[in-house]
Amino acid sequence: MERAKFEYKTLEQIIEDCAKRALHIEFDPDLSILYEPIEIGGRKLGNRLAVHPMEGSDATADGKPGELAFHRWKRFASGGAKLLWGEAAAVVPDGRSNPRQLIACKENVRELTELVKQTRCAHRDALGTDSDFLIGIQLSHAGRHCFTKPALAFRLPVHDSFTVLDKRTREPLPADYPVVTDDYLEHLEESFVDAARAACDSGFDFIDIKQCHSYLLNELLAARTRAGKYGGTFENRTRFVGNVVRRIKDALADEILIASRLNIFDSIPFGKDPATGIGKPLPYEVPYELAWGVDESNPQRENLSEPIKLIESLSMLGVSMLSVSIGSPYWSPHLLRPFSRPVEGGYLSPEHPLVGVDRLFRLTGEIQKAFPHIPVVGAGYSWLRQFMLNAAAANVRSGRVTIVGAGRGALAYPEFAREGKAQGSLDSRKVCLNDSLCSNLLRAFASDGGKTPTGCPIRDATYREIYKLLK
Ligand SMILES: Cc1cc2nc3c(=O)[nH]c(=O)nc-3n(C[C@H](O)[C@H](O)[C@H](O)COP(=O)(O)O)c2cc1C
Repeated sequence: MERAKFEYKTLEQIIEDCAKRALHIEFDPDLSILYEPIEIGGRKLGNRLAVHPMEGSDATADGKPGELAFHRWKRFASGGAKLLWGEAAAVVPDGRSNPRQLIACKENVRELTELVKQTRCAHRDALGTDSDFLIGIQLSHAGRHCFTKPALAFRLPVHDSFTVLDKRTREPLPADYPVVTDDYLEHLEESFVDAARAACDSGFDFIDIKQCHSYLLNELLAARTRAGKYGGTFENRTRFVGNVVRRIKDALADEILIASRLNIFDSIPFGKDPATGIGKPLPYEVPYELAWGVDESNPQRENLSEPIKLIESLSMLGVSMLSVSIGSPYWSPHLLRPFSRPVEGGYLSPEHPLVGVDRLFRLTGEIQKAFPHIPVVGAGYSWLRQFMLNAAAANVRSGRVTIVGAGRGALAYPEFAREGKAQGSLDSRKVCLNDSLCSNLLRAFASDGGKTPTGCPIRDATYREIYKLLK
């Protein structure tokens, strides 16, 4: 399949191309600002670099971290980024996106404690101290993307066409499949509190209430057609997350920091044009009400008024850090992770990846400018390869973001933060090539039907052999 080429050898070349495309992506050769500490909720963070949550699908069947989870987390920790934003962990077993996802529950506290301990130790060994290193875990319910028995906040034919009864058999959703009941959601609020307690008992510094990427809590934010107390008005659509944050604060006070990774713009689903293989918007009607953070008269454009209103109230409730994202990995991957080559069977990017990077930076900047007192973690840097820290430094310096995260870039090159500091630049031979092999592994099942773990098959030999097991 054709790839969007990355042909820049020097900073000047990429700066010139951004200017030619009239994009507002800036690069700073001086990386020093990235290594200035900050305070988050009274705790010190030693630098402005983060590893984004990256599901590894490498837990045991009962959701305890497996051998490769230890491998992955320890590599991240010794890489020098001071914020390790642990991946999506389900709050209940039926909320898992894959059968090898972590589960944050009291039965797994012993193993999660060991994961935190070994991760801290790896960071200390490599960096000398872990007193300014924060580790979190993302609390999640996969909603319509559960690997079996999807949990839908509302029905919508275009979203339902991406939803399957079981990810292993790909059986489609029956027409009469029900949405989750209010009763289920009420109980689920308590499960989030239990999961937060388990995370706290395991020694995590922060929890993230996941509201992004079309998983359940993101979908609830857009549930305008849902009846009952979790649907319709803004107050009803944000009731779940508000209740969860309030109840966690009541239960744990300041024992653990509360963060949230939040979609600020859902946009619309894209599909593959059969003639060209390029992604194109699936048909939609306006006013478009069934997405979060969109302009109803043109849902391919953002309207940040509701996300901003939600962030205001989350901040009042005690959320002390945000990570922002956009789109869905299932129907608009080019929005949330600009790529060169699509996932197996996926569409070619409908835009130059730099356009996607620019959108992520611009929208993140709008949120950061609206909330200068809240540390916002920004995404979309990995496509920039060896120049990603130069863009990070420019964005931090101009106040468009407080902390910069790497997702795919960290799987490929976990020591990016340490090397950026020591060398003042990154090594182009170690960077992520944005070829979606990690996403292929995350989605696939091995030929024996078992779930494959994910990592970078290009840069990490551990995953090279695993990649060969794909069906
Ligand atoms: C294999 C893989 C796993 C991911 N897992 C998660 C996850 O658990 N939680 C989450 O919020 N985002 C997840 N993401 C999205 C990343 O955190 C990140 O937002 C995205 O890759 C864009 O950042 P990047 O350009 O640095 O890769 C995942 C992405 C990939 C490719």
